[in-house]
Amino acid sequence: MSQPVLPQPLPQIIQGGMGVAISDWRLARAVATAGQLGIVSGTGIDSLLTRRLQDGDPDGSTRRALSHFPNPELAQRALDTYFLEGGRAEGQPYKRVPLPSVGRLNPAWELAIVGGFVETWLAKEGHSGQVGMNLLTKLQMHTIPPLLGAMLAGVDFVIMGAGIPRDIPAVLDNFAIGQAATIKLDVKGEPTDHSTRLTLDPAEYGLDLDSLGLSSLKRPNFLPIITSHVLAQTLARKASGSVEGFVIEAPTAGGHNAPPRGKMQLDDLGQPIYSERDLADLEQMRDLGLPFWLAGGSGSPEGLQHALSEGAAGIQVGTLFAYCTDSGMDDGLRREALTQIRAGAGLRTDPLASPTGFPFKVVQLSHTLANAQLYAERTRICDIGYLREAYWEEVKDGKEGKIGLRCASEPIETYVRKGGSLEATVGRKCLCNGLMADAGFPQIQKGGEIELPLLTSGDDVVKLAHWQDRFSAGEVIRYLLGQWQPASDGVVAGQATGESDPAQVPSMAGHL
Ligand SMILES: Cc1cc2nc3c(=O)[nH]c(=O)nc-3n(C[C@H](O)[C@H](O)[C@H](O)COP(=O)(O)O)c2cc1C
Repeated sequence: MSQPVLPQPLPQIIQGGMGVAISDWRLARAVATAGQLGIVSGTGIDSLLTRRLQDGDPDGSTRRALSHFPNPELAQRALDTYFLEGGRAEGQPYKRVPLPSVGRLNPAWELAIVGGFVETWLAKEGHSGQVGMNLLTKLQMHTIPPLLGAMLAGVDFVIMGAGIPRDIPAVLDNFAIGQAATIKLDVKGEPTDHSTRLTLDPAEYGLDLDSLGLSSLKRPNFLPIITSHVLAQTLARKASGSVEGFVIEAPTAGGHNAPPRGKMQLDDLGQPIYSERDLADLEQMRDLGLPFWLAGGSGSPEGLQHALSEGAAGIQVGTLFAYCTDSGMDDGLRREALTQIRAGAGLRTDPLASPTGFPFKVVQLSHTLANAQLYAERTRICDIGYLREAYWEEVKDGKEGKIGLRCASEPIETYVRKGGSLEATVGRKCLCNGLMADAGFPQIQKGGEIELPLLTSGDDVVKLAHWQDRFSAGEVIRYLLGQWQPASDGVVAGQATGESDPAQVPSMAGHL
């Protein structure tokens, strides 16, 4: 197997992976062509593929990528099942990807392999910049298929947090040599003498090296996202294969946050209280000798300089990129969010919103599920299912059992019937449907109920109140490198075009 090779010089800026499809292939491509590291999100990629096809794939990009998928049979099946010429009729709901179970992973896995390929292939099309894929470790049933798809498209980096991605290096190693890969599935209540694993064999999808006519696939660099140096040390020494560096994420970062260390304590607004104890010790990180990037509130020229002075290779930035015109955020939502942020809409670290149990930052926008009334009015349904947890259902005296799946945001009686606690359902939001809506793919439920967005951002979002409406990924990069100033108070500056201009962006400077 070829060993992973870090690019030299290293990118100073990683555009953070942002699910679902906020960091889509367009954003990652814009960043990669500007000489930094662009990351696509692989989360929910099966549903995204199928919804883009049902919206008629107006610019033909999805079909172009599909025509390059190494097993045409799989690509054709996705087209035959989901593509609608001209898109859906008015009011027509999206046809869903059937919910997978542990015993029946297809067609979800097949579509996720194809989707992971499409997203990565498009992000890498027509340039030689670096592209990575981000996934959430905790979504165990949904991580390995997009990784295979991404590797088939030559992905350069894989970046994963939200859990301990111990098994992932070996998954990448195995796929690189065309072998089956396996990860442990955490099953709540599973007897200790029992262990469940999920295995993906590329050969079962006609994607083994013989079928591909290749001797190997490129093994991407792997960067776990961590909050503590102790976890970094463990992963560097004891993961299932090599890790090439780390992203260190502070609790100010957008998306999911790690819970605070120790007993959860809440402030007056019901937000988790973080302290110095929740920050990684950078001296210990430097001692590890692997490159690292700082994430969370680092999105400024000063943030970059500070990171470099601490021995970091650079920074990972999410929020600023999420609101740029190259992002996959629905444009109407982007503009309305900026308007409300200018009018003072704040951010809340919600300890309950996410069914994962991780705190999740939510922008307090009045027309989204952050609004308590709209949240209460929504009919609970679990029809996408990425955040379901596996649990052990006893059949006979605990000796025999089967594995069920449940989500704390699903209808309450269903969740409780599956052994979940009533308490765990309080305040839980359907991130799957909310995030699909953020990216412009809201489901139309029974009775015409349209799923509402639920937008996350980092603490940095407040500073966008002083930025103009439209700015590009290239401009964010130039801002971070100290070469461009946003126009303040929504006044568009002469040089702010809102369009990418890679030619204007100097390539990354190496630093370690
Ligand atoms: C809209 C949004 C969605 C995000 N989604 C993910 C995700 O799916 N996976 C992940 O590992 N991090 C996610 N993040 C975190 C970013 O990758 C990045 O680490 C973080 O935003 C950096 O902090 P900043 O927001 O202060 O720049 C998300 C951030 C935002 C703003």
